[in-house]
Amino acid sequence: MTLTELETWLRETDSSRLETLWAEADRVRREHVGDEVHLRGLVEISNYCARLCGYCGLRADHVDLPRYRMEAAEILECARQAVAYGYGTVVLQAGEDYGITREWLAEVVRRIKAETPLAVTLSLGERPEADLVAWREAGANRYLLRFETSDPELYARIHPPLPGEVWRDRFEILARLRELGYEVGSGVMIGIPGQSYASLARDIATFENLDLDMIGVGPWLPHPATPLGVERGTWNVENGERPTEGNTGETPVPPDQVPNTEDMTYKVVALTRLVCPEANLPSTTALATLNKESGRELGLSRGANVVMPNLTPVKYRALYEIYPDKACINETAEACQLCLSGRIHSIGRRVGQGPGGRQRRGG
Ligand code: 5AD
Ligand code: FES
Repeated sequence: MTLTELETWLRETDSSRLETLWAEADRVRREHVGDEVHLRGLVEISNYCARLCGYCGLRADHVDLPRYRMEAAEILECARQAVAYGYGTVVLQAGEDYGITREWLAEVVRRIKAETPLAVTLSLGERPEADLVAWREAGANRYLLRFETSDPELYARIHPPLPGEVWRDRFEILARLRELGYEVGSGVMIGIPGQSYASLARDIATFENLDLDMIGVGPWLPHPATPLGVERGTWNVENGERPTEGNTGETPVPPDQVPNTEDMTYKVVALTRLVCPEANLPSTTALATLNKESGRELGLSRGANVVMPNLTPVKYRALYEIYPDKACINETAEACQLCLSGRIHSIGRRVGQGPGGRQRRGG
């Protein structure tokens, strides 16, 4: 698809034309990755973060947020739970936390790989290359690092570098991860203040160019303790008000601004499936946060084939507040397991067996 075609779809509002997009994405999904929905158990192992990303509630200067870092034994217990629930993968995610040392995490990965059949996915930020090498050697299979936006100016505005650190290019890190033999995942947020339709179209084209194995997309959700959340007004969770097309707060919005809405998220999921037919695409928690009723199912019916049930112990859940009012915040791991398998069956799909890695076809 050309950039112009992508952008035209992103601007489409006619519901019958959108129905054809959903149907085509669903068809391509079925043809290339089948009816199985893979479950990736998510363990949010630490909410410490050294960085100051403009959108994220875990940013280092959010001093009111109590911080936690899970013990190795707690993480191992979550991995055992993942096995018991029939998940094929455990995802260890954290802020960019240098209290998670190379050796400590390598040992955690080695133990998970020795004691369980799970695939291990890491999502730990822009770690130095030596860490990525050590973790791969320890047996980690996949790494997630969203590039967030392909617009370099917007990217720079919302990602100040670490104090005293050199600029690190996420695309270089993604390329290095691939060389190291990881399955590589990335993705973007939809409706970041300052994100234009043309730049979101380029994001989707970039997924294709990078030949990503996993692609996660979700709406930007304003967090009141972040510069972007303050700048654009906070989403009023109290009265259930949702961001409307084109405006999420008090500040006037430029005409080319992409809205951070549910529908825009489905468009990106569907178009991503069309340009990356074999990729594993999650129906994300951020999407489920915008529509707790049926967001997960609609994502799965419009191109997605993965969900990430939360396995984080309940006592830590609420502290992993990258955005407010996150779905499943008070649910136990067992509740999420039952909830998601029920949702998968309700739309006529089945739970995937085994690790569910990227399957490349021919060529
Ligand atoms: N709204 C939506 N998504 C967010 N993320 C971080 N903060 C927010 C927010 N306020 C996403 C980023 C990050 C992923 C782990 O969570 O894309 O890569
Ligand atoms: Fe957690 Fe539905 S996925 S309660």
